[in-house]
Amino acid sequence: MTETLILRRPDDWHLHLRDGEMLAGVLPESARHFGRAIVMPNLVPPVVTGRQASAYRERILAALPEGAPFTPLMTLYLTEDTDPEDVTAAYANGFAMAVKLYPAGATTNSASGVRDFDKVRGVLEAMAEIGMPLCVHGEVTDPKVDIFDREAVFIDRVLEPLRRATPGLRVVMEHVTTQEAVAYVRAAESGLGATITTHHLIINRNHILVGGIHPHYYCLPVAKRELHRLALREAATSGDARFFLGTDSAPHADAAKESGCGCAGCFTATNTLSILAHVFEEMGRLDRLEGFTSLHGPAFYGLAPNEDRITLTKGATPVAYPAKIETGVGPVTVFDPGFPLYWRVA
Ligand code: DOR
Ligand code: ZN
Repeated sequence: MTETLILRRPDDWHLHLRDGEMLAGVLPESARHFGRAIVMPNLVPPVVTGRQASAYRERILAALPEGAPFTPLMTLYLTEDTDPEDVTAAYANGFAMAVKLYPAGATTNSASGVRDFDKVRGVLEAMAEIGMPLCVHGEVTDPKVDIFDREAVFIDRVLEPLRRATPGLRVVMEHVTTQEAVAYVRAAESGLGATITTHHLIINRNHILVGGIHPHYYCLPVAKRELHRLALREAATSGDARFFLGTDSAPHADAAKESGCGCAGCFTATNTLSILAHVFEEMGRLDRLEGFTSLHGPAFYGLAPNEDRITLTKGATPVAYPAKIETGVGPVTVFDPGFPLYWRVA
């Protein structure tokens, strides 16, 4: 028996595409299924100015497979030297859709991020005025805070004070991983959304550490206890428009992951839609998949949903996904959900 599900074409509201040969290798994996993506700016060096974002956008468009209907939506990497005028100009002329806040040192290539939040006040105020969203990597970097607590502590120490100090600022709490973050988003009156990744709906911290160390399940924010994964599944399938898909698909060559100091990131671009259909079906909420993948994100960003559709079909035999994607800088392991997937994009 085949079941069919037709969805507006999904968008990915948090994606790492990298640059150069890695970009060329991974971009087709996203462009195959997604209409648009919010592209993260944590290149080396980071994408800070409107001009840099525009140049990066051109490199992405040049790397697209012929005819792929994929639109990259660019972000600017917030530094303590970011010029509010450059940000507002980039937003006005379409070079950037959002600004990304990395607390300095929180994750991959975040060294140029923010230490002193007073130094970015002017930028945040300008963004609030024009309605430009701030995408937030919500983890404190205080070495005294346990890595599993860094998101919850960030809400109290940084995010709530920042939102209070900048009324009207629209914020996306990226890749939420805890029940505290879900509750915080739900309690907000307005101006706060959250992305949820594919992998955080599947793995808890045991997947990383039990039976040996599994580097391909290591990402940031790190996966938490099972009760948090369950809270994320509930939020994603709740129909609440404040929660939407941001895969955080983050490719690293295998050699960089399978190392004495492995990089953070799960690469999920290839099989995300099969995994999400599986999760939503398990939750008895296939009817809400389209909201999560294709409607809530555009609504938050003030964009129309994609006009065209994709078709998902459920077959009797599992979909054969490649274990790795070959790129010019080495193979990248595709996220393994640990169970067979029966839904495929037709
Ligand atoms: O796991 C992650 N990988 N989390 C991040 O915040 C950054 C990302 C990356 O760029 O590899
Ligand atoms: Zn990310």
